[in-house]
Amino acid sequence: MAIACLVKELGLHVGETVRLSGWLYNKRTSGKLQFLLLRDGTGIVQAVVSRKEVSNESWETAEALTQEASFVLEGVVREDARAPGGFELGATRIELIAPSSAYPITPKEHGPEFLLDHRHLWLRSRRSAAVMRIRDEVIFGMREWLHSRGFVNVDAPVFTPSACEGTTTLFETPYFGGTAYLTQSGQLYMEAAAMALGRVYCFGPAFRAEKSKTRRHLTEFWMVEPEVAFLDLEGDIQLIEEFVSAMVQRVLERRREDLEILERDTSSLERVRPPFPRITYDEAAERLKAKGLPFRPGDDFGAPDETALSEDFDRPLFVHRFPAAIKAFYMKADPADPRLSLSVDLLAPEGYGEIVGGGQREDDLKTLEEKIREHGLPREDFEWYLDLRRYGSVPHSGFGLGLERTVAWICGLPHLREAIPFPRMIHRLRP
Ligand code: 4AD
Ligand code: MG
Repeated sequence: MAIACLVKELGLHVGETVRLSGWLYNKRTSGKLQFLLLRDGTGIVQAVVSRKEVSNESWETAEALTQEASFVLEGVVREDARAPGGFELGATRIELIAPSSAYPITPKEHGPEFLLDHRHLWLRSRRSAAVMRIRDEVIFGMREWLHSRGFVNVDAPVFTPSACEGTTTLFETPYFGGTAYLTQSGQLYMEAAAMALGRVYCFGPAFRAEKSKTRRHLTEFWMVEPEVAFLDLEGDIQLIEEFVSAMVQRVLERRREDLEILERDTSSLERVRPPFPRITYDEAAERLKAKGLPFRPGDDFGAPDETALSEDFDRPLFVHRFPAAIKAFYMKADPADPRLSLSVDLLAPEGYGEIVGGGQREDDLKTLEEKIREHGLPREDFEWYLDLRRYGSVPHSGFGLGLERTVAWICGLPHLREAIPFPRMIHRLRP
């Protein structure tokens, strides 16, 4: 009797007859031998089908198998140092589950639009699967890291009454005769939760009607947002560098094989350990001027500015104390210079740009009321938020880390769209 198992478990069954279920990844024939590559989601293994060793029926089934046909394969596990994964199967029986004719993604090169149109199938490629496993590792790792440090997961709503990150990128949706907006960030809700539980985080999708078509923007992306009571900007910066380092080191430890599939040069990732370099916004502006970039002091950084800044450093770079005028209404003013905000961004190396935005929150009721007015935000939608400053307001800070930008950087992907299973962008809502 064959033992049902997965490709990744083959090492436990050397010399035994096993039964694998999967899809045909590729095939090669040479006279009385057929070489089948079976993929089952946990790995790929080669099976050698010999004319003499199998029934006519199995031989013909193998001959008829086409790319991505699903089938059951029984065979004896052999150790083979040359085989990918270290094992090979001597096939004893092959049974078709379902055919697959003219699979659109062939081993030849395809353009990005074609692949995105077929994302539901493209996910089966070794490369996509490696990215998805790394994404999973980061998600699981960040939850474990936060949980082990006493952070409580409190999720924020997706339907919201108001903007958190500016009104220009809001997605509107009808809501029983009124209007709701898809959340841009769970932060304001996390501030409420931090006043209840101390250290909290949410993890979920965020929506921004980004009209820009850059490789760094999605309209739907995933964000983890920790928020901590009694934490100042300095503490926030330390939390960010520990968190980001832990995620990168975790992937290096546990997902080496996937990084190899992606041909990721890991030397720059090895260096991602605290402390990260820090510069102020003003220093950053000086550097950009010295580099001759057309950056105007007082503006937010564009992608070329972020790339130019991070070039000078071998680790992620903190830029802190942005002008209050270009940051969200909730940022606390720097007591040393009220034109500045106690804000921080983390720029990833190698041109991946901003992966984290955060800072210390305005905790004074009067100042916050003023900010809401200055930003032209509807006061009535923020009354609940102002309550947090009416009843035992405390200094507090937090940040948001964009999952896809982080995964794209760790994996060395050219575009964010490969870092999410089904990307949503200005011109893409399918599949
Ligand atoms: O800098 P942002 O806008 O900050 C906030 O939303 C804060 N409320 C977070 C907080 O303090 N709790 O966004 C945070 C991160 C960015 O650094 C970036 O990594 C990612 O979210 N991000 C995007 N990722 C993909 N596509 C987009 N359109 C993104 N916009 C932001
Ligand atoms: Mg930001």
